[in-house]
Amino acid sequence: MKILHVSDLHIVPPGQRLFSLDPLAQFQACIAHINTHHADADLCVLTGDLAHAGAPEAYAALADSLKSLTVPYQLLLGNHDDRAGFLAQFPDAPTDQHGFVQSWLDMHDLRLIFLDTLETGEIHGRLCERRLQWLAEALDGARNRDVLLFTHHPLPDLQYPSMDWIGLRDKMAVLQLLQRHGRVRHLFSGHVHRAASGIWQGMPFSTVPGTNHQHELDLATPGYATTRLEPPAYAIALFRDGDVVTHFHAFTDASARFPYHPPVHDAAAA
Ligand SMILES: [Fe+2]
Repeated sequence: MKILHVSDLHIVPPGQRLFSLDPLAQFQACIAHINTHHADADLCVLTGDLAHAGAPEAYAALADSLKSLTVPYQLLLGNHDDRAGFLAQFPDAPTDQHGFVQSWLDMHDLRLIFLDTLETGEIHGRLCERRLQWLAEALDGARNRDVLLFTHHPLPDLQYPSMDWIGLRDKMAVLQLLQRHGRVRHLFSGHVHRAASGIWQGMPFSTVPGTNHQHELDLATPGYATTRLEPPAYAIALFRDGDVVTHFHAFTDASARFPYHPPVHDAAAA
């Protein structure tokens, strides 16, 4: 099984730019790369910040671009998104009974759970009581399955001050539910605009760069992160016999390519 993880598109209305780049063109380049190299993927999950400022024109452009993606996809919301604006453009997006954009999908032997951590007006993420209750039920229904959890806001503290204060506020309540279920295979998140991976409370996790701009890796300075135009990337998660491998691909990279030649050892000089 192959799942693609794309995040933080920050699409703005067509014709506008963001940090000197065209987020829509960046995302379209990502789609083209996926279609060429990973058309066999089972699913492409986009973990939020689909639009930079929730503009209706941005969601319309996103919907139009997604028509060319040949892989099935799942859309999550981030703190830059507007839930009502998103649903106006994507009326068929699955929601829970309260209108939050969260759902689950059973695939092979796994249950994929997609959470809505958007708290309108806030940069940090929340999972209110209603969303936590929905998660509890989604986990209860996955009794015999390992779970993949997808969120915009990461659950772990990344020991990255400018990101940790805007993480998911209700992570300990989520942790209790995950530990009660006890079968989490992997946690996937966006929001950080960087690749990071590790183990949180015994559960492996990864984050992924954005498709437009990135956050500078600064493990000392609190406050807001500094934006940088490091290469965008998406992740390719491979699942086999209980193993998970996550690769990251910088899809705009055009650096030179060379065939590998083993070094030639000079026996006489040894
Ligand atoms: Fe973002």
